[in-house]
Amino acid sequence: MTAIGPFGEYPQTRPRRNRQTDWSRRLVRENYLSVDNLIWPIFVQPGKATRTPIASLPGVDRLSIDIAVEEAQRAESLGIPVIALFPATPTELKTPQCEEAINPDNLVCQAVRAIKEKGLDIGILCDVALDPYSSHGHDGLVKDGYVVNDETVEMLCRQAIIQAAAGCDIIAPSDMMDGRIDAIRKALDHDQYQHVQIMAYAAKYASAFYGPFRDAVGSSGNLAGGDKKTYQMDPANTDEAIREVGLDLSEGADMVMVKPGMPYLDIVRRIKETFAVPTYVYQVSGEYAMLQAAAGNGWLDLEKTMMESLMAFKRAGANGILTYFAPQAAELLRKG
Ligand code: PBG
Repeated sequence: MTAIGPFGEYPQTRPRRNRQTDWSRRLVRENYLSVDNLIWPIFVQPGKATRTPIASLPGVDRLSIDIAVEEAQRAESLGIPVIALFPATPTELKTPQCEEAINPDNLVCQAVRAIKEKGLDIGILCDVALDPYSSHGHDGLVKDGYVVNDETVEMLCRQAIIQAAAGCDIIAPSDMMDGRIDAIRKALDHDQYQHVQIMAYAAKYASAFYGPFRDAVGSSGNLAGGDKKTYQMDPANTDEAIREVGLDLSEGADMVMVKPGMPYLDIVRRIKETFAVPTYVYQVSGEYAMLQAAAGNGWLDLEKTMMESLMAFKRAGANGILTYFAPQAAELLRKG
């Protein structure tokens, strides 16, 4: 501080100087959001030419495959690099043993093939987990009330194989079973799918923010036991995320993911700093619903809060974001 006048001392350093004008703010900007950072999750359902709204996810519909193909074309034209496909499996096909998960003609595989036929310049990501196919709503097979690990991993390997065979580019295990990345990598390689990438849901928490997603795939009503705490992580833990990511990388994951997003930015930052690998974050359904609900009530500006939340992921160190806002954000980024 220097005394510069009759009114006392003024700051020598004024961070506000750099913020005075738009050009100066641009000059000192540290992070950028690009359409290249976006992954767009899409829900598919049976039927033709139908869109079914999801009450808890305003603005997101379940799409029949023909419409999902059109949306994939839209994703390409917007420059979105990857879409993620999730099936809303009809209830009558959901079973305790989840046979539909390994049916090469299931909804997801049909959708992957239909999109691949168009030869678009986009990647397709598919979740590997049993919850869209299980009558009990769990991500794995249940024995005596417990989600059994190793039997589930065998199913996940078979699920990964049929998705790869359909043309899926990125396999994304979201189940949180132990050892599944190693097993899936070996299974893929054994069947000549060495080129198929793996994005591991590595630090996936037992979060209450997944509610609207479970509505979308119809797995919420039947979740036996009510939660997934015996396999998804405790929201109280950080070191455990490092351990999980370390394991998934050592088992062959090409990319890792943190989920949920906004309440877990500290995890994104720590993983990025620890491992320096491609790190993604899922802005999950509940986060999307929160912003939509507040905006719907006129309490928040949707576009501004959406873009700010996406920028926050970049600032935390994420390379990309799975977000239901992807097409809207891409449109805004295009407009500049
Ligand atoms: C399936 C899966 C879930 C989500 C993505 N994959 C739900 C869950 O684990 O219960 C949630 C995504 C979202 O909430 O947007 N294992």
